[in-house]
Amino acid sequence: MMNYPSAAQMWQWTLGLPEQLAYRAAGLSELEAPDAPVRRILVAGMGGSGVSGRFLAALADNTSVQIIPWNWASAPSWLTPNDAVLAISYSGNTVETLATVNDALAAGVPVTGITTGGKLEKLLRERERPVFNVPGGLPPRVAFGFLLGTGLRVCSRLSGVELGQPERTTAALTQLRSNLGAAQFAPISVITKSLIERPVTVYGTCPLTAAAALRLKQQLNENAKHFAWWATLPELAHNEITAAGPGKPPRRLCLTLAEKPPPLDSVLDDGEQTIYLRGSGPDPLSAVLGLVFQGDLVSLALAEARGVEPYPIERIIAYKARLG
Ligand code: PA5
Repeated sequence: MMNYPSAAQMWQWTLGLPEQLAYRAAGLSELEAPDAPVRRILVAGMGGSGVSGRFLAALADNTSVQIIPWNWASAPSWLTPNDAVLAISYSGNTVETLATVNDALAAGVPVTGITTGGKLEKLLRERERPVFNVPGGLPPRVAFGFLLGTGLRVCSRLSGVELGQPERTTAALTQLRSNLGAAQFAPISVITKSLIERPVTVYGTCPLTAAAALRLKQQLNENAKHFAWWATLPELAHNEITAAGPGKPPRRLCLTLAEKPPPLDSVLDDGEQTIYLRGSGPDPLSAVLGLVFQGDLVSLALAEARGVEPYPIERIIAYKARLG
């Protein structure tokens, strides 16, 4: 029998999101702000590391800095030395992320890394580029708070634009966690029960909830080993809507920050009822991470309900081994 961290350990790591966000990587305060603030940052990373880029991009939408999440195995040709690349790889050994970093370095683009070590740290240290280490020993997806919190601080420093206040969000999430007693946990159990039987589509209705929808889709895949997809409204009204109708649609889970639920049932009009999970908080970062926190717990509860172990991800490991 394989020996891996228990489901209880996964719950414990996941519940540590508020503290992770407060983590300050060594050397952050010495990170030199560039002479001219960077206006375009490509955030390279895959899976549980790369998803942070989606949140950073959405948080930057109302600012003067553009952040582009990048989950490909080469860098785009439009990058210039005035741009910046932030490479996020928990292991530091992800082939696609390393390929993007190598392309960027070859094009003279400044690269900063967030990792626990691996080839990424080695490469960037050799090139005398900044690397910020986060604590090791976790699966990347439950190190999300370390990676996103450090990413926020690095992007803010490079661009001179504040994208969120991780300390305030830590306080908001700590409060949310202390409310997760029996009564507050009830919605999570209700949602979980309704997801057992069928695949799930997770919907976002703004850039921030779209990032949270992708995160939840990944968590349902990896923790619960459950088929899940993600989509966004209004985009789905221009394609997916034509596939909706009779038959067995996937369960619909919509993440929202709005007071009024987005009109998914009337747009898709297939007799299916959307389950809404609403996030709120003192600011956009706190509100969306409140959703992420609850979604993460749903994915663990679903693993439990389906009788699967949340930790192992053998297929991802086998895929990486094939890439070399
Ligand atoms: O959750 C996971 O383990 C994966 O999605 C990884 O994050 C992904 O394979 C990339 O690896 P890393 O985060 O080490 O760069």
